[in-house]
Amino acid sequence: MPADTEKRAAAQAAAQLVEDGMRVGLGTGSTVAFLLPALAARGLRGLRCVATSTATEQRARELGLAVESFDRLDRLDIAIDGADQVAPDGWLVKGGGGAHTREKAVAVTADRFVVIVHAEKLVDAIHGPVPLELMRFGLPSTLRRLGGRERVRIREGWPPSPDNGVIADLEGPVGDPAEVAGRLAGTVGVVDHGLFAPELVTEVIVAGPGGVEHRHQ
Ligand code: A5P
Repeated sequence: MPADTEKRAAAQAAAQLVEDGMRVGLGTGSTVAFLLPALAARGLRGLRCVATSTATEQRARELGLAVESFDRLDRLDIAIDGADQVAPDGWLVKGGGGAHTREKAVAVTADRFVVIVHAEKLVDAIHGPVPLELMRFGLPSTLRRLGGRERVRIREGWPPSPDNGVIADLEGPVGDPAEVAGRLAGTVGVVDHGLFAPELVTEVIVAGPGGVEHRHQ
């Protein structure tokens, strides 16, 4: 499948950025699933990894990567993660896998946040759905203040996870991502949202049919 080939290529390029002794944030998703073996195969010494989901943590441990609690690290040298949308102005949408709150917490902690995507993730402009994590407490109130069920779709079929609150998606056009991000951040009951500002992102590695492009932001 070409997309998998491209995801693997982006992940392998990112794995080359990691060096002995680094503190590394590991993202979540199908592209990161290619990063983990690529990183493990490098046989680097003294890596200290934190994981953004239990799925990533389990897989990383199986591969022999040293994963520790995020409670023990207040800085990371690098974090590497996938994305659902990458816009030309550098805005991202993340959270297709519902892990965006932890992913953002890890991304802001890293000196270098590297996004790995295949070319289909490139968009002309950010659009909905924008993933949300919502508090269970007062959920009807939060939904009403976000515009009601017409604007917010709670993801069905997601069993409760120790990783997250209620995962939902804000539907409809986004317009100005900065305005929407600010409004969501200011809405009580929204734990976090999947809009990642360009300032958070150091680099984007895009793999497409023509090869791997390494963009610095
Ligand atoms: C996880 O919640 C997401 O933010 C993922 O990082 C994002 O959805 C990209 O996932 P894929 O690599 O599976 O496309």
